[in-house]
Amino acid sequence: MNSLLINNISSLEMVLPKEKLQLKGEEMANYKSIEQSYLLIENGKIAAYGKQSDAPERADKVIDASGKFVLPGWCDSHTHLVFAASRETEFIDKIKGLSYEEIAANGGGILNSAKRLSNATEDELFNSALYRLSEISATGTTSVEIKSGYGLSVDAELKMLRVIKRLKENTTLNIKATFLGAHAFPESYKNNRDGYVQLIIDEMIPKVADEGLADFIDVFCDKGFFTPEQTAKIFEAGIKHNLIPKLHANELGETGGIEVGVAYGARSVDHLEHTSAEHIELLKQSNTTPTLLPSTAFFLRLPYAPARKMIDAGLGVALATDYNPGSSPSGNMPFVLSLACIYMRMLPKEAIAAATINGAFAMGLEQSCGSISIGKRADILITKPIENIAVLPYYFGSNYVETVISNGNIISQNKE
Ligand code: NIG
Ligand code: FE
Repeated sequence: MNSLLINNISSLEMVLPKEKLQLKGEEMANYKSIEQSYLLIENGKIAAYGKQSDAPERADKVIDASGKFVLPGWCDSHTHLVFAASRETEFIDKIKGLSYEEIAANGGGILNSAKRLSNATEDELFNSALYRLSEISATGTTSVEIKSGYGLSVDAELKMLRVIKRLKENTTLNIKATFLGAHAFPESYKNNRDGYVQLIIDEMIPKVADEGLADFIDVFCDKGFFTPEQTAKIFEAGIKHNLIPKLHANELGETGGIEVGVAYGARSVDHLEHTSAEHIELLKQSNTTPTLLPSTAFFLRLPYAPARKMIDAGLGVALATDYNPGSSPSGNMPFVLSLACIYMRMLPKEAIAAATINGAFAMGLEQSCGSISIGKRADILITKPIENIAVLPYYFGSNYVETVISNGNIISQNKE
């Protein structure tokens, strides 16, 4: 037995009964915290917690968390963090006034990333993504979903997914893989969009499923990209191969993304910068998690998704980074929390619920992580000494995450 005891915790946050798998509406700001508490980890799992006066007397290793807060690690349920190269020249184009769609139409954007990826080796992609994983774990991320989608050919999509599989095998982080062949139309199918949809259905999905390379299937269903009809076809094929739908929807316009996502029982619909009252009603009648990506809205100067209205309507919102070279070159969850509080008027506790248990739910990890619950993976972060949990989003751009524990092991320590 290998045990780790965290003592004298100023406040243990996001304590949930094991059967509580997501938080909705008012529940988000009202999760349970325990002041002056301890947390015991045994063999990589949460074994016990409670008031400090009830703490066990010894353990293999003891950490004193006086003045510090303890939370579940962040569950970042939407990233594209396997990519070959940055796109800062497009960043300059954006400063000069070009829109995301104009850059994409000029052969920039996702197609630019696909060109760079086709020339990169699996080892190069693996090493740069591994570096990004260590970067995001230093700000507290312990579970992460990673998408393909910069391949856009059978071989390159498989190459990306094999890199994600290797990442799973070589880190202690919890990783989920999503097949996003339908991220953009490759140049060679510019005038035959349905032909590319057919390639995804006939060749990509069966190969991805045969090799067991993905948990989810995603589509960029939006203005100028895939239509709801094409999305429906791709989802039908994916579901036949046991891939669960997730969706990029309503980032650039209201083009039917939320509707098709809900109709196919998507685990989550993500972005939602353009969301109406009717959409909120539709989401309420579904089990689909609205996942908001405020650092993308920030970077592209889009309107922010209506998180406040969603939560007030009783929805369980998740927050994620969208880490990618085009629209959110950052995997920093604390910054996402700050943006959520400042621009989407989420309360700090709501943002924390959205970034932990609801993020876990959005990627099918709600049974194993995302809360302080007995038996869950010990994916934990310990803050620097703070007075109040609101300090985390308040000091935007700072890293108040001091220690990160993944599966019971300390993987990052920030002593700055
Ligand atoms: O989630 N919206 C589509 N895909 C990414 C952007 C990808 C890129 O520009 O490389 C996103 O924002
Ligand atoms: Fe995305």
